[in-house]
Amino acid sequence: MTTLNVNGVSYTVNVPGTTPLLWVLRDIIGLTGTKYGCGIEECSACTVMKDGSPEKSCVLTVADASGSKIVTIEGLSPTGTHIVQRAWIAAQVPQCGYCQSGMILKAVQLLKGNPNPTDAQIDAAMSNICACGTYQRVRAAIHLAASGAV
Ligand code: FES
Ligand code: FES
Repeated sequence: MTTLNVNGVSYTVNVPGTTPLLWVLRDIIGLTGTKYGCGIEECSACTVMKDGSPEKSCVLTVADASGSKIVTIEGLSPTGTHIVQRAWIAAQVPQCGYCQSGMILKAVQLLKGNPNPTDAQIDAAMSNICACGTYQRVRAAIHLAASGAV
């Protein structure tokens, strides 16, 4: 048995400790906002926050996640109105949407450490892969969130 704290809620799950957190989030807890892309730490679609830092849940085991505070896209704001989410909507960032949970969580982390990043700093921090090529709108949304004008 492993106990996880996800979005402020405690869950006890009966899986091997080596199980990737992503499977537990999606298939057991039912939080499907976190996506499976590559499974090999390359795309960041599976990004969650672990004690405030982005982690790739396709390789983070439940044993390593246990004892930490995990936040998924569903836990960022109870109403979906975190300033980065509002900026994402205003800039109409998503196309298919598949990569966007990870993008948003990574952007939240970026802005926490650097409240007004340059384009170059955004490009360096946002290593997430978007098959739809939304990178320009991601930049725009991060600038919008940084400006506070949403
Ligand atoms: S699914 Fe985890 S990095 Fe791609
Ligand atoms: S919006 Fe489609 S993969 Fe990024």
